[in-house]
Amino acid sequence: MRILGIESSCDETAAAVVEDGRKTLSSVVASQVDIHALYGGVVPEIASRAHTEALCTVVNEALEKAGLTMADIDAIAVTYAPGLIGALLTGLSFAKGLSYSSGKPLIPVHHIRGHIAANYVVFEELKPPFIGLVVSGGHTSLIKVKDYTDFETVGVTRDDAAGEAFDKAARVLGLPYPGGAHMDKLAAQGDKKRFAFTVSKVDNAPFDFSFSGLKTAVINLVHTMEMRGEKIEGELKADIAASFTKAAVKTVSRGVEAFYAEGEKLPLVLSGGVAANSHLRAALKEITERLGVGFYVPPLSLCGDNAQMIAAQAYYEFLAGKIAPLDQNAYACMEA
Ligand code: KG4
Ligand code: ZN
Repeated sequence: MRILGIESSCDETAAAVVEDGRKTLSSVVASQVDIHALYGGVVPEIASRAHTEALCTVVNEALEKAGLTMADIDAIAVTYAPGLIGALLTGLSFAKGLSYSSGKPLIPVHHIRGHIAANYVVFEELKPPFIGLVVSGGHTSLIKVKDYTDFETVGVTRDDAAGEAFDKAARVLGLPYPGGAHMDKLAAQGDKKRFAFTVSKVDNAPFDFSFSGLKTAVINLVHTMEMRGEKIEGELKADIAASFTKAAVKTVSRGVEAFYAEGEKLPLVLSGGVAANSHLRAALKEITERLGVGFYVPPLSLCGDNAQMIAAQAYYEFLAGKIAPLDQNAYACMEA
């Protein structure tokens, strides 16, 4: 079954054709990073307009690269939640129009389920049950994937997502937007023991995460130093990045370790934009090896937002009978 996936929840306009949830026939991602970089973050209204401009071209390119036309496509999949509401609506409306005019079914896909499914595209042998750890710009969640469409959230962030903390830390350190990848490189050059950032815990919720305290701590540290006339550059800048990263990684890994201390020894499946972080990947590799559980992590191209992951999850949603009605709406929130 060939599914054309469409993703527009944030600042990437993406389309892909994936066969039977596993085999990528094409994938196109048009990033808006250059536009939003001017403002130091994603501007929702601008994102929606840029999606509207890009959608037709991106979808056509995905079909062309796969050597297919709409006649060869069995279903259309689209992200309906969560994300920026205007951005989601552009992709959803486009997909609805395409579904209506072509007569192909429309499959609504939850963005977080999609992130997890990015792993199906690269790991043929991967099958539920497993523990999904989604770390992205908008989300940090530990999810038990009991079956392809049966999910149980076991831990979530109570405030900011991991990616939000990375992006704000990068911004205060004067790194270009989006800062996550720049922080990753800079942290590798610094002394992670120089600054002792507190690793947050959530009372009575050992699998939950909290990043807002760490985010505020790094901002306060840098502002205090600047007020003292210190220049945030060179070794000092790298040491702040390394110390911050150590605490951010520990925040995530502590939740994971707490889960394994109590829960079943299911494989760990990492996903989301922050899954690209080399320090996090290394820490989780060490933990899973020590615990003797499997560890799956997608290549960098599948960590950030893309449409392969949407088309992959859509296959399993379709098998479970999930088809969008023509009045399908988009939702900004996670619970949709
Ligand atoms: O999954 P994604 O593309 O979008 C959301 O669904 O949120 O994640 C984007 C986030 C941004 O915060 C970005 O800075 C972060 O992923 N990111 C990283 C790295 N690469 C991207 N964070 C830390 N280290 C990285 N190497
Ligand atoms: Zn995402």
